[in-house]
Amino acid sequence: MRTLRLALFGSLTGMAAFAASNNVTFNKDVLPVLQKNCQECHRTGEVAPMSLLSYSEARPWAKGMKAAVVSQKMPPWFADPKYGHFSNDRRLSAEDIDILTKWADNGAAEGDAKDKPAPIAFTSGWKIKPDMIIEMPEAFNLPAKGTINYQYIRVKGNITEDLWVTAAEMRPGNPKVVHHAKMWVLPQGSKWMANAVPGKPYEGMETGKNDQMDGNDIIGKFNPGLGPQSFDIGGSAKLIPKGSDFVFELHYTAAGEPLTDISKVGLVLQKNAPLTRYYLSPGTPAALNMMIPPGEGDQEVVAESTVGVDLKLTYIQPHMHVRGKDYEVRLIYPTGESQVVFKGKWDFEWQLGYDLKEPIVLPKGTRIITIAHYDNSPNNKWNPDAKSTVLWGPQNWDEMQSGFLGFLMPVNTDLNKVLRASGVSLLPKGKPGPTLSQLK
Ligand code: HEC
Repeated sequence: MRTLRLALFGSLTGMAAFAASNNVTFNKDVLPVLQKNCQECHRTGEVAPMSLLSYSEARPWAKGMKAAVVSQKMPPWFADPKYGHFSNDRRLSAEDIDILTKWADNGAAEGDAKDKPAPIAFTSGWKIKPDMIIEMPEAFNLPAKGTINYQYIRVKGNITEDLWVTAAEMRPGNPKVVHHAKMWVLPQGSKWMANAVPGKPYEGMETGKNDQMDGNDIIGKFNPGLGPQSFDIGGSAKLIPKGSDFVFELHYTAAGEPLTDISKVGLVLQKNAPLTRYYLSPGTPAALNMMIPPGEGDQEVVAESTVGVDLKLTYIQPHMHVRGKDYEVRLIYPTGESQVVFKGKWDFEWQLGYDLKEPIVLPKGTRIITIAHYDNSPNNKWNPDAKSTVLWGPQNWDEMQSGFLGFLMPVNTDLNKVLRASGVSLLPKGKPGPTLSQLK
């Protein structure tokens, strides 16, 4: 009797679970997933092409949403989960993917209105309390259509003393057209954009070399859905040296009508110098000697730098152009041991950065090896010219292989000692690669 009741009970709960799984509704199951993972971008005035706030808006996208989350095209996130743990990881859980799948497969019902969670109150103001705001002095005017090259705008800083920044938030003036953006600190004497007229927009090829030795540092950035960035990792902060100016770097997309944008960055400051500085390498390691032959569909390109002081690695943001396929960061410690700390697909449109959950200790002498692959064949739909030999350069038809790496280090560290090119990065230009087989 007892076993019978147990068996009956077991099958009843099983049936209930089965019925519930087929009863996925928008109000009860789907809306909470969209609120938490999608609406930051998918609402009117934001970067995504359609709003997913309500049932009537989301219903026509039921199958499209399923396809986008099953293929992991959405939410945008490109790191291979086998390597590294990241605090800004955006991937959906298997349960959430399952909910969107079942909803699409079972008629996409709206469900009971009383199951509906309260709508999210999206704030249009600052999420931080900025002590200082830097704004583009003039509006940038966008055409209705066509590709807009990266824009660089220098802004006067009027910084009369060293400033320590613990948090930054970049706010696009017009989120519909700002695909992603950064603001750089340009210390006094930097050669990059040295002769730029403040407020005037320049395109990449006109701006000169953004050189690490000049101490240029990214202080704020915007990707849709990114939010504010904290530089306080166990008491660290970023430095804006006295006399610095700023450079806005903007990637705009045209939105079908002529529009304008005035983006800005808010900074939270701390009075005293911290013990630890958060420093972002401006694109080092870099494969300045890279070469991709015409038509090559899978060219490996490797760069190497050696760490000159004890550091911690806290952030990884690969950078390539439209032929890039993937990017890996591998460490070779002074002991000879090696470790892959990041591997991910490359997507030129997104340029995402990855915050390490735990900073990684890099003792002096650690080699940072970055490995990228490129598709210079006609199969790559973004390839502007499959017949060209591709070299390092600033334009989209040139290529880059570089990484913006975030480091934590003692405040008084000499920036010129942080990284030096080594190994394959010292090889002469001219051969396909450099490749891993040339690594010693
Ligand atoms: C960080 C911003 C962002 C987030 C978060 C985001 N999306 Fe998107 N989504 C976009 C943008 C931008 C596009 C259009 C360009 C593209 O396809 O990359 C898009 C496109 C789409 C498309 C159309 C895809 C296609 O193939 O045409 C679907 C469907 C979609 N998103 C669903 C979702 C769902 C579901 C979520 C949450 C689970 C989500 N998105 C989260 C920005 C975002």
